[in-house]
Amino acid sequence: MKPFQYHQPTEILFGRGRLNEVGHVVSRFGCRCLLVTVPDAPEFRGLFGRVRDLVTAAGVAVSHFDGAIPNPTTEVVGRGARMARDFQADVVLGLGGGSSMDTAKAVAVEATHPGTVWDYLFFRESQPTPKTLPVVAVTTTSGTGSHVTQVAVVTNPAEKNKSAVFHPLIFPRASVVDPELMMTMPAGVTASTGFDVFAHAFESYINPNGSPYTDMMALEALAIVAKSLPAVVRNGRDAEARERMAWADTLAGLCIANSGVTLPHGIGMAVGGFYPHVAHGQALAAVYPAILRYSYQTVPAKFAAVGRLFDRRIAGVRGLKAAVMSCAVLERFLKRIGMDLSLGRLRVPKEELEALALQSLVLPDYRNHPKVATLKDVVKILEESH
Ligand SMILES: [Fe+2]
Repeated sequence: MKPFQYHQPTEILFGRGRLNEVGHVVSRFGCRCLLVTVPDAPEFRGLFGRVRDLVTAAGVAVSHFDGAIPNPTTEVVGRGARMARDFQADVVLGLGGGSSMDTAKAVAVEATHPGTVWDYLFFRESQPTPKTLPVVAVTTTSGTGSHVTQVAVVTNPAEKNKSAVFHPLIFPRASVVDPELMMTMPAGVTASTGFDVFAHAFESYINPNGSPYTDMMALEALAIVAKSLPAVVRNGRDAEARERMAWADTLAGLCIANSGVTLPHGIGMAVGGFYPHVAHGQALAAVYPAILRYSYQTVPAKFAAVGRLFDRRIAGVRGLKAAVMSCAVLERFLKRIGMDLSLGRLRVPKEELEALALQSLVLPDYRNHPKVATLKDVVKILEESH
């Protein structure tokens, strides 16, 4: 077997009703908590107040930063970090989807270090130190996997750049995954975050850095997505399917924390940096079909294995033919969950594709793709995806 290593320090509290334990969990890491969320809105139906009450009841003082936004920016992180410092927070609780959890992680770094979070990106010389505040996460979507990863994605609008802090110190110390919190997620968000789960598992599985450990989890996550994502997009109140997707999201997050993502995320991150109105899952969905067609010949057996999870008719087919069929099956799957998008439909201007291609090769993710793309390849993929 291929040698590998696996690391995962996050304690996971999984299951319906486990939100009730959040106060006790937070109290183990600090006594002054900065709660990080998006602005309050009717769809959260008292969730923020409930969490605040649970944490307060555990004897922890709470200050609420409700300024997280989709594709969180350096400015947002700066405001959160100032609030954490003023409040003398000693623990940060990220409650929400990837944006809130990533903001919490970024705040935990910026609040305790000189400069801004942008100075601590994965490739910088200065890196987070043990002064970083402990982070607790409560995930309310089934996507991003951020509750079990060491990544915080941040956008710098002035530089039109989306990049990431990547450090073991920002793994959440504990994460609550309570599928009851996901029951009211709108179908569009369910599909978009659910497709991100697919992408994490798929890219981990085809990633040369994958291991037998991550492969096992990736295939399980993909099998769950194949069955439960269409079910939950159709009926958001399907409790069992919600629970299964929360598990798939967790598995896929554990995968990317160890093997990483590949070309689709490289391009998807560039799209998000250029066009913050495009949700992460939408950006991925728009470019996936072209990337699948570009890649299948390099790792046909892996494509076939994934395709078989989504369509049993591939079971008896072998070799390249099975891989080709898998591309078509996955494209049909996108349609089934209402994610058959194009960059054009997402209002990405055609004349900016060249610049977008250049930006897609800034993050190192593309180098872990089984077929390493050149700038010309990426331009072609983007044109096909428009
Ligand atoms: Fe993602």
